[in-house]
Amino acid sequence: MSKPALDLSAYLAEQENKSFLRFLTCGSVDDGKSTLIGRLLYDSKMLFEDHLSALEKDSKRFGTDGDNIDFALLVDGLEAEREQGITIDVAYRFFATDRRKFIVADTPGHEQYTRNMATGASNSELAVVLIDARKGVLTQSRRHSYIASLLGIRHVVLAVNKIDLVDYSQETFNRIVEDYTAFAKNLGFVTMVPIPISARYGDNVIERSPRMPWYQGPLLLDHLNTVDVESALSEKPFRMPVQWVNRPNLDFRGFSGTIASGRVRPGDKIVVAASGRASTVTRIVTMDGDLDEGIAGEAVTITLADEVDISRGDVLALASARPEVSDQFSAHVLWMTEEEMLPGRQYLLKVGAKVVPASVTELKHKIDVNTLDHSAAKTLALNEVGYGNLSLSQPIAFDPYTDNRDTGGFILIDRFTNGTVAAGMIDFGLRRATNVHWQALDVNKTARSGLKVQKPAVLWFTGLSGSGKSTIANLVERALFADGRHTYLLDGDNVRHGLNRDLGFTDADRVENIRRVAEAARLFVDAGLIVLVSFISPFRSERRMAREMLETGEFIEVFVDTPIEICMQRDPKGLYQKAMAGEIKNFTGITSPYETPEDAEITVKTAGIAAADAAAEIVAYLRAGGIVP
Ligand code: ADX
Repeated sequence: MSKPALDLSAYLAEQENKSFLRFLTCGSVDDGKSTLIGRLLYDSKMLFEDHLSALEKDSKRFGTDGDNIDFALLVDGLEAEREQGITIDVAYRFFATDRRKFIVADTPGHEQYTRNMATGASNSELAVVLIDARKGVLTQSRRHSYIASLLGIRHVVLAVNKIDLVDYSQETFNRIVEDYTAFAKNLGFVTMVPIPISARYGDNVIERSPRMPWYQGPLLLDHLNTVDVESALSEKPFRMPVQWVNRPNLDFRGFSGTIASGRVRPGDKIVVAASGRASTVTRIVTMDGDLDEGIAGEAVTITLADEVDISRGDVLALASARPEVSDQFSAHVLWMTEEEMLPGRQYLLKVGAKVVPASVTELKHKIDVNTLDHSAAKTLALNEVGYGNLSLSQPIAFDPYTDNRDTGGFILIDRFTNGTVAAGMIDFGLRRATNVHWQALDVNKTARSGLKVQKPAVLWFTGLSGSGKSTIANLVERALFADGRHTYLLDGDNVRHGLNRDLGFTDADRVENIRRVAEAARLFVDAGLIVLVSFISPFRSERRMAREMLETGEFIEVFVDTPIEICMQRDPKGLYQKAMAGEIKNFTGITSPYETPEDAEITVKTAGIAAADAAAEIVAYLRAGGIVP
């Protein structure tokens, strides 16, 4: 750069003292987002000279703007590069003025990138919603505004762009502002500042436009420079999710993490939120020495006066203002993957540094992001937003998202692919099983099974319809019964006539079908029985859930492995024929998937062996494992 050499340390010190604003630009594809960002970077002189001369050259060659610089080329060039990749991430750009430092989250506008937009929003305090003055408020503007609001953004700039193309019309501007205000009135924005701009010519971006004497409001950059977005995180109660337990030697044990909210000082009484264990802060250690006080946003290591059991994922909180602790809560969920959300399916939920298995137990409604109307729904598809209840395998500490984005926001992770499938915002905790305590009973599983001289277990038969599951299960039960064992057989066709008569064959219903039968099997195991479960149970995820409900060794998966061609030939109930004729929807193996077991304890290849031999093999397995004498 041809600037005079500057005093680097003075420059850095100056930068450090400036306040920070993280904002997001959103809007439809051609609303001029790239041009605006390019303009801000250019006018705030954050472009380096080589960039600039390249840009001037490119503008002459490809630009859509005569001899003027086409700012969109600058940003779009980077965007095209990004769009080659499989995952499109959020691009963060940095610029600064005399007063503030800015980080702009630039997210692609298309609907399929909603998840990127949500990621950008979760890290921002303000959103610049761009509207093309010729087009007015579009679906995409509404969708982005709703998601911004859902993810906790409370400050919006309504940038009515391309105002030059509507002759700087005050009337058009007013109409758009009116439309948008009507839509946004329930989105909880604290400030909503409409500004008529032309990103291309710079009107009202940094300098007041002589072409719109009717507009007396703030200029875009002035507003960004001065808007007060202080969320006062430091004034909220102290919270710190423990990222790791720092134990370099026997003399030091500290808990490291970033303070999510509030302040903490040596001498403060704190608790481990979920367990309620209390202690007192002794030191707040950092790379640059101990602090008298740690404040929200700072990364610190805290030491305590007592030996308290704390591990990664626990939340340290002020004893006098604790977060909620529950294993069930209501939340908004933004679904971010092709495969639909299935109530009852287990995902991993990550909040702060804590990861626990969780499922959506009840979806109350989904939200039309255009109209904000609610409608009944059983599942959520890509980019849909729903509201419902979640149930976790253990209690966690949290705050409502509107109080604290760090301790109230979560993601859901697919247990098999490890991909992020949803973002969630906790609304409030549910008082359900939390206040219903497990009853300790004197006659327990050991006593009951001891009397029956057997180890309780579940033999879980899975396989296609017509594979022979029920036939083999029936033979196994007969053999055990003849031997004086205590058994019970749960068969899909039978259970679907009673307990599960309300369920059909959609993916969501099959998940619920298996969840209920797994719970029933668990109760029978507790009763000391050997339970035979014969269900197609086509999904790995739910078979794994059933396995994890039981103790190690109690779940024995039996894969009845019969090729579909043979099942179709046998077709004992004539169902394959109907399915092939299109008379049955979602038929397993034909129009609905079957996920083959990967680690079944027993695999029975039925082709070429008699059912009785398969049954004998299974009984032998039970004997060898000491389940039956
Ligand atoms: S599961 O997929 O939810 O585990 P389940 O074992 O309860 O299925 O029920 C399967 C039985 O329902 C089959 O053996 C068959 O008799 C009957 N059935 C009716 N419609 C279907 C369908 N669309 N897909 C599979 N089985 C069906």
